[in-house]
Amino acid sequence: MPEHLGLYPHWYVPAIGSAWVMGIIGTIHVLASHTSVGASWLFALLETKAVRENKPELMEYIKKYGMFLLVFSYIIGSITGPGIWYSVTVASPRGISGLIHNFVWVWATEWVFFFVEVIGVYALVYLLGKIDPRTHLKLTWSFAVASWATMILIVPILSFMMWPGNERWYETGSTFDAAFNLNYFAHLGVRTAFMFAIAGAVGGILAATMKNREVRIEITRFLSKMGLAGLFLGVVMWLWYLQTLPENARIVMETQMAPKYGPFLAAVLLGTLLYFLWTAWKPLQLRQGVAVAMTVVIALFGLWPEERSRESLRKPYVAGQYIYSNQLFARDVPGKGVTSDLPMIEAKGVLQTHMFVPADLRTVTPENKVRAGEFLTKTLCTNCHSIEPDAKLRALPARFGFSDDPVMVKAYLDGALYHGTVPYMPRLPLPEAEREAMAAYIASLSKGAAPMLAAHDALQQGAH
Ligand code: HEC
Repeated sequence: MPEHLGLYPHWYVPAIGSAWVMGIIGTIHVLASHTSVGASWLFALLETKAVRENKPELMEYIKKYGMFLLVFSYIIGSITGPGIWYSVTVASPRGISGLIHNFVWVWATEWVFFFVEVIGVYALVYLLGKIDPRTHLKLTWSFAVASWATMILIVPILSFMMWPGNERWYETGSTFDAAFNLNYFAHLGVRTAFMFAIAGAVGGILAATMKNREVRIEITRFLSKMGLAGLFLGVVMWLWYLQTLPENARIVMETQMAPKYGPFLAAVLLGTLLYFLWTAWKPLQLRQGVAVAMTVVIALFGLWPEERSRESLRKPYVAGQYIYSNQLFARDVPGKGVTSDLPMIEAKGVLQTHMFVPADLRTVTPENKVRAGEFLTKTLCTNCHSIEPDAKLRALPARFGFSDDPVMVKAYLDGALYHGTVPYMPRLPLPEAEREAMAAYIASLSKGAAPMLAAHDALQQGAH
């Protein structure tokens, strides 16, 4: 057994938790990156048409959209990409370390393709009209392939976070066993399909500004078809994806998602579907503002819930079904030389073994009890729960019915948490004194929060 827990100091963000910080940055990044990958395919397909049917006027649009991508997608993508790295490194250091130890070469390869992609978009925009059309077309196809390659290479990492889906990886620790996990292809399918819909919606922002009437009609219809194809394929892929999820994800889906969540997503899909049908039918009615609004709707009501639910479905793990969201190793992974932290916690507790515990909190005393409890709660719970009574991210006081009775809170820590009977939460076999300290702290959060109980009960029917 190692001497210490390999934990870093924790990063607590009031009210929304570090999880939402990552989620917000991630959603913006997904919008930018999926737009650009989808648009690269739109360019390749549209330019092929332009060359075959000798319609150079279509190139005007590609130039506009390419420039738009350069200014928006690539700049926003390049800011939020490192933003994800910064935020996950502080929020989930062991999660990201686990991913790096599996996928470092996959990431390196992805960056090579990303590099090609960035050069590609510049070349595409600035060489248009300066080189012969067939050569330019080859360049555009290279750009499309390189763009999609970045997605092909990043999705194994994202889908491994859900789970490897096979026992083999835990023994071998092999990158291939990790990458070709059970839900890889379905996940890739979902993103590939929906990227067409996203690029189709964003594309409308520029299509609406085209001067030439015929070109405007032709392009808007092209975008509509692409969007519709993306939506249909996306729904099929999504249904397949649901079949590849682990048991704990099914339980979270069945018990924790608000009942209106399914119909809500269906409504967003239906709305997008109607939008594309309308733009196919009446392409000249599409105004720039409407296309902008549609993009915002997709981001807020499509991508945000999707990223959030993918995060929720993984619970209690952050990656590979062996690292809990609170960074503890939940099981042995011989293939990576990883041993479970739980036996150490059970034997010695967290305060004795965590490297970054303030010296006066190493042992729980009546004087430091609440502060020790605060340290433990922030370390062990706040990756998934915020602590303010009215906070957004699964506020802890509400989860305990705003109880300010330490005995009641402790009963939960002694039972469900100690034995790990809740499928979406980590098992935490803490020593008696640490459970008592946590109970004292958690109960103290609800002091004076009783009025909230009534408001909370009224809201219970709604979302989580
Ligand atoms: C891996 C993420 C995760 C961690 C870490 C976590 N929880 Fe939870 N917890 C959840 C989820 C998910 C739910 C269910 C959704 C909800 O209630 O909004 C939940 C629900 C609860 C509930 C409601 C009762 C229940 O069984 O559904 C309590 C109480 C609770 N958590 C306490 C804690 C405490 C105390 C800690 C820290 C020791 C903790 N949780 C750590 C994810 C987590």
